[in-house]
Amino acid sequence: MKNVGFIGWRGMVGSVLMQRMIQERDFDGINAIFFSTSQTGQQAPAFAGKTSVLQDANDIDALKALDIIVTCQGGDYTSAVYPKLRASGWQGYWIDAASTLRMKDDAIIILDPVNRANIDAALDRGIKTFVGGNCTVSLMLMSLGGLFAADLIDWVSVSTYQAASGGGARHMRELLTQMGMLHADVAKELTNPHASILDIEQKVTAKMRDGSLPTDNFGVPLAGSLIPWIDKQLDNGQSREEWKGQAETNKILGTSQIIPVDGLCVRIGALRCHSQAFTLKLKKDIAITDIEQLLAHHNDWVKVIPNDRELSMRELTPAAVTGTLSTPVGRLRKLNMGKEFLSAFTVGDQLLWGAAEPLRRMLRILR
Ligand code: HSE
Repeated sequence: MKNVGFIGWRGMVGSVLMQRMIQERDFDGINAIFFSTSQTGQQAPAFAGKTSVLQDANDIDALKALDIIVTCQGGDYTSAVYPKLRASGWQGYWIDAASTLRMKDDAIIILDPVNRANIDAALDRGIKTFVGGNCTVSLMLMSLGGLFAADLIDWVSVSTYQAASGGGARHMRELLTQMGMLHADVAKELTNPHASILDIEQKVTAKMRDGSLPTDNFGVPLAGSLIPWIDKQLDNGQSREEWKGQAETNKILGTSQIIPVDGLCVRIGALRCHSQAFTLKLKKDIAITDIEQLLAHHNDWVKVIPNDRELSMRELTPAAVTGTLSTPVGRLRKLNMGKEFLSAFTVGDQLLWGAAEPLRRMLRILR
């Protein structure tokens, strides 16, 4: 059995990974060793089927004894430990949720339902570093993979509706706290059906602007609003999240000719599902029924939602998809711009296929 070290297993992505590994009985086939950056020597979790104590996540000698390392600890940890570990001569497999190593030439972005062939080829070449993709990119490819695989996409324009969880656990708490404070301010008026809705709105708006909502994580109120910028500002006017769209999509697919992907990334008040609205320029005019077939047969998790009001409202929302591995795509129709222009809307759980699931499956491939 392989010795597999887990770092950052207690955080949000790490916890989702642990839940999924328990569900799929992944611990049965490995010797799991749990590490900590702060609680070395304390009791390790029992869900891996044996009792042990937490090892020091910064102890290079302890890490060197591992065949595989799975880290959800974050980019700072990767930057601090990975170069030292490789410099020490460690030849094991590094599976990482952080973006730090994603674009390195000797790292593969993992999303096996989409790029299993690239992963297998990389393993044959001796590649040892495997990194989960950006969540919006992975979720787009899970939902639209059939069109990419058929080489039908000329370019992609996207507007995202990204959940608070993409920022982290504290962001989710902040959003919910903001929501609660806004509601509390007008709770009494809401029980009175005769209270003026404009008075209620004014009170909410005033509360949003008076500086009393917690904004340490998002910087501004998100509840009742949105934030049209995610991640750092780049010199070309893109946000870093927008930049990742094209860079990571093409790296995952291993395209020889770059497929342009660009658009606007927007934070909204959903908890853990990222949604995306696409305009796709196709390479040729192809019937919607054929498009639906290609999409539906690409992988086991994509589900084509017919372009119907009721079905879209019921099945193509964060409320419906959160906590599931389903990556539905709907609102498929040709746009007024011409027969090669297709609209699509996708939803996916940012913590599952957007983060933990590709890591879990890579571990399965390796063990
Ligand atoms: N950067 C993404 C977001 C999450 O902020 O929503 C992780 O890929």
